[in-house]
Amino acid sequence: MTEPSAWVRITEDDPGHSARYVQRFRTLAEQGNDIVGEARLVDAMLPRGSRVLDAGCGPGRIGGHLARAGHHVVGVDVDPVLIAAAEEDHPGPRWLVGDLAELDLPDRFDAIVCAGNVVTFLAPSTRGEVLRRFRAHLAPGGRAVVGFGAGREYAFDDFLADAAAAGLTPSLLLSTWHLHPFTTESDFLVAVLTA
Ligand SMILES: C[S@@+](CC[C@H](N)C(=O)[O-])C[C@H]1O[C@@H](n2cnc3c(N)ncnc32)[C@H](O)[C@@H]1O
Repeated sequence: MTEPSAWVRITEDDPGHSARYVQRFRTLAEQGNDIVGEARLVDAMLPRGSRVLDAGCGPGRIGGHLARAGHHVVGVDVDPVLIAAAEEDHPGPRWLVGDLAELDLPDRFDAIVCAGNVVTFLAPSTRGEVLRRFRAHLAPGGRAVVGFGAGREYAFDDFLADAAAAGLTPSLLLSTWHLHPFTTESDFLVAVLTA
């Protein structure tokens, strides 16, 4: 049985958590804040009309932007409240409720984007399985882009070792979604991984 994500435990302990999370991003967007930086990086990696998986999509800010940019987007998230918000705010992509450790879609993707610290919420026992499933869902030449911060109980070296064990090799390591290089001092990692 799949060990539940930390996000699931947080929402069980605090039933208003997901609705507040949705509202936070709606407010940021209404105020004119830039909430699609991650999506812009992924868009720059892809020809128009690419197939994109937004893994741990939340309320859909990244997949929504990529769909409006002309890509074919599927979003998967374990939280049904966030998927309902994605459907409401960003019609167009296929938004699916599911645990990434059980990802099993017929689709193959040119890019998988996993932003917003998603991997730090995964149950530790599922980390390797999620990365294996990312690899299995990549089209030939496809790339997975995973971003998360330090100090969240998933060391960058452990993540990169898990990725290697899953057959994913870093082709580029960045410290921001704005293309700053990753160094030993970096407190954020954006890993571009290939199969
Ligand atoms: C901080 S939110 C980021 C959401 C979105 N990626 C963004 O950046 O706006 C973390 C997300 O990871 C999702 N998540 C955590 N563990 C998951 C799992 N095992 N399977 C699918 N989604 C998961 C949560 O439901 C939540 O939407």
